Amino acid sequence: DLPTKVTIIEVGPRDGLQNEKYFVPTDVKNKFIGQLKSAGLIEMELTSFVSPKWVPQMQDAAEIVSANSTDTYRNIVLAPNRKGVDRAIESGCKAIAVFVGVSNSFNKKNINKTTKESMAELKPIIAELKANNVFVRACISTAFYCPFEGKIAEEDTIALCKEFAESGVDELSVADTIGMAVPTESYSLFSRLRQQLPEILLTAHFHDTRKLALTNIYAALEAGIHRFDASAGGLGGCPFAPGATGNVATEDVVYMMERMGIDTGIQLDELVKAIDIIVPSISRKIETGYYQLAKTM
Ligand code: HMG
Ligand code: MG
Repeated sequence: DLPTKVTIIEVGPRDGLQNEKYFVPTDVKNKFIGQLKSAGLIEMELTSFVSPKWVPQMQDAAEIVSANSTDTYRNIVLAPNRKGVDRAIESGCKAIAVFVGVSNSFNKKNINKTTKESMAELKPIIAELKANNVFVRACISTAFYCPFEGKIAEEDTIALCKEFAESGVDELSVADTIGMAVPTESYSLFSRLRQQLPEILLTAHFHDTRKLALTNIYAALEAGIHRFDASAGGLGGCPFAPGATGNVATEDVVYMMERMGIDTGIQLDELVKAIDIIVPSISRKIETGYYQLAKTM
């Protein structure tokens, strides 16, 4: 049975912008975030506390967090290691996302550690964060395919998800980093995860490289998933995953869900205004279905 309601976690300010060549001014980012919140997106990845040498776009993380410190929304920031988590906590963050790839080669390229080394570093940190009532999300990259290793075995992804669940995280965001999964794979992995980890918040994160993200989302919906990451305007992509393009567009997910009678709590017209705020500051053209349609109406 399909749910009556789903939750969309907006990742535009983070995944959407991290790959943008030119620095987007901090006040534009904050206006974008504010308008996304006005549209009803109450869970959002705002930024990342990563190395400014690796990802210069995210160098204003502390300023973004402080501009968003007065509301009660779930303002999530990414942090890859001890230094990132310490910076996030100092800035007053109450929701942190750690991120690890199932594939070693990808994890090496992304955070310069093997998957095992990352897990060894992160487990005591997660325990500490939980003891301090911080919401912890774990993003699982290359859950289906890796740009360097190809197809990832379902067992390996499930094993890493279980390891994270045992470490005490609140949420798993399971990602098709390079947008290569097909709906049968989405259904298969997400039904097994849903069955084996019934307690945890389970979220699907699809990139739309091959235009299969919406069908993969529908398959995950049928597998019992009702949380989806999406990026306004379909922006996004990991700078260390060759071939990765944007995330599924928030407006397209909202449109599909609402037409199916599934409540998202999001106002499409307000969401379009958020995209209008960011468009002049980015180099990518927005080609997603609903946004283009809205502009020609
Ligand atoms: P490293 O070079 O191995 O770091 O990079 P290190 O520990 O050797 O330290 C080197 C220097 O970086 C030191 O400074 C550290 O202090 C500093 P120095 O002494 O030379 O002046 N440093 C930091 N500075 C700020 N913040 C930090 C930090 N850590 C060390 N957190 C590191 C390792 C993890 C830092 C680097 O690889 C990195 O920043 N990687 C981030 C990559 C990234 O942001 N990727 C995109 C996000 S993941 C994604 O998009 C996938 C996702 O969407 C799901 C999906 O679709 O798959 C989530
Ligand atoms: Mg991503």
